[in-house]
Amino acid sequence: MPDKLPIRAGDDVVRVRQQVRARAVEIGFSLVDQTKIITAASELARNTLDYGGGGEATIDVLAVPKPGLRITFEDQGPGIPDVDTALKDGFTTGNGLGLGLGGARRLVNDFAITSKLGQGTQVIITRWK
Ligand SMILES: Nc1ncnc2c1ncn2[C@@H]1O[C@H](COP(=O)(O)OP(=O)(O)OP(=O)(O)O)[C@@H](O)[C@H]1O
Ligand SMILES: [Mg+2]
Repeated sequence: MPDKLPIRAGDDVVRVRQQVRARAVEIGFSLVDQTKIITAASELARNTLDYGGGGEATIDVLAVPKPGLRITFEDQGPGIPDVDTALKDGFTTGNGLGLGLGGARRLVNDFAITSKLGQGTQVIITRWK
């Protein structure tokens, strides 16, 4: 059963972290892999809140072709004008370090981002056991 979590406030980012951790432990991820997927999920949940104006995270536990965790972040915010630029380390339109998106991509096995100006952003990350 996918787990859908709203991201409307800072508390929700904490809840996403907790749920991702719980699923990662259940799947039997190593401590290092737990930390990777939790860190990536935190960064993306934070972006969903700060830049997307809120949205939701969906957590899917995968079994085929092997155990894994997939998390989808969606918002109906302003979208990202240039995704390639946004992924570069150091690029930020806020007060951050500009490391969230690129960092998240490096921490997972699969990273897919779709963004449409004026419509919103979807980021899907997958980490296999
Ligand atoms: N969901 C989103 N909707 C709109 N713009 C986004 C979204 N996520 C990221 N961005 C844009 O991409 C930029 C880079 O994001 P990234 O997470 O790498 O850095 P940051 O959030 O600015 O700083 P950091 O994550 O290091 O604190 C953001 O500054 C913002 O302009
Ligand atoms: Mg960020």
